[in-house]
Amino acid sequence: MGKAVPERMTAIAITEPGGPMVLKPQTRAVPEPGPGEILIRVKAAGINRPDVLQRQGAYPPPPGASELPGLEAAGEVAALGEGVGRWSVGDKVAALTPGGGYAEYCTVHESNALPIPHGFTFTEAAAIPETFFTVWHNVFQRGALRQGETLLVHGGSSGIGTTAIQLAVAFGARVAVTAGSEEKCRACRELGAERAVNYREEDFVAAIKEMTGGRGADVILDMVAGDYVNRNYAAAAEDGRIVQIALLGGAKATADFSRLMRKRLTHTGSTLRPRPVAVKGAIAAELEDQVWPLLAARKVAPVMDMIFPLAEAWRAHERMEEGSHIGKIVLDVA
Ligand SMILES: NC(=O)c1ccc[n+]([C@@H]2O[C@H](COP(=O)([O-])OP(=O)(O)OC[C@H]3O[C@@H](n4cnc5c(N)ncnc54)[C@H](OP(=O)(O)O)[C@@H]3O)[C@@H](O)[C@H]2O)c1
Repeated sequence: MGKAVPERMTAIAITEPGGPMVLKPQTRAVPEPGPGEILIRVKAAGINRPDVLQRQGAYPPPPGASELPGLEAAGEVAALGEGVGRWSVGDKVAALTPGGGYAEYCTVHESNALPIPHGFTFTEAAAIPETFFTVWHNVFQRGALRQGETLLVHGGSSGIGTTAIQLAVAFGARVAVTAGSEEKCRACRELGAERAVNYREEDFVAAIKEMTGGRGADVILDMVAGDYVNRNYAAAAEDGRIVQIALLGGAKATADFSRLMRKRLTHTGSTLRPRPVAVKGAIAAELEDQVWPLLAARKVAPVMDMIFPLAEAWRAHERMEEGSHIGKIVLDVA
């Protein structure tokens, strides 16, 4: 038998759209797991850039999702909704949550939770789901990166970027990245990037051409858009795939589409949060099969930047927005 579940919990609310200080601890009802859902007693929750956008009022939760921020959490199963088959109370899980991770308890569909890989702490485990689901779906499923190909990752030192580097290297690809400082470039090289381009000083198109003997990158994972779109078309190899996961440099672009035709490029993209539970469950199943053994063997692991207590979520957001972090920022909820 697990511990009793209380009726009330502490959660971090977005009290109004605005800066980090609008994140405040509040007392809320503990959510009830619906059919097929589990209730997680959260021990740690990951911070992601989309949480910052949500706090600013620019990324509202999809219909039916918690109003509370938090797209990933790790902890113990505290209660089971009707029909849950896989999990038992007390199991240790890391989950991709539709929201509500910045709290002592949150609910998630059982198929969107995975066992905590052997040897991982709760804070490490909470840093896994969002970036591993995103990278798996965009680099491997949509981008179809294969062994021996070259991946270019923009924002190489981000939570997403540090995961993309490690997974691509683990599956036998060559990796180049862009990042905004020498320190960030060094961190990316230590994770296995063959080439790390400080974009403030060097042109990434020339660098990727040089690295690949003029061929270009087979897959480009891009979170910038804006004026990177045209440069990505220039940096891509024939039959290259460009996968858009964010628009940090702007949603509008002017591009030379003759490159797209001449090189037979594919430009695609996706957002993870609004996808149906079943789609996320299918990503989870592939991750468990193909990536969880790599985590258990510590061949890949989340890069941990800093850990803050739940009540100081505002400091965690401040750190992310200040922009010098490398890897993942996590909240300790225990
Ligand atoms: N589509 C999806 O499903 C999905 C899912 C999760 C996250 N995302 C997106 O993926 C991106 C990375 O997420 P994360 O949680 O890993 O965030 P993060 O760690 O804060 O990374 C953001 C990165 O972008 C770089 N960057 C480049 N241009 C920037 C600009 N104009 N403003 C701010 N940063 C800029 C930053 O480093 P330097 O510029 O210093 O190199 C930083 O490394 C975010 O934009 C997020 O919204 C998308």
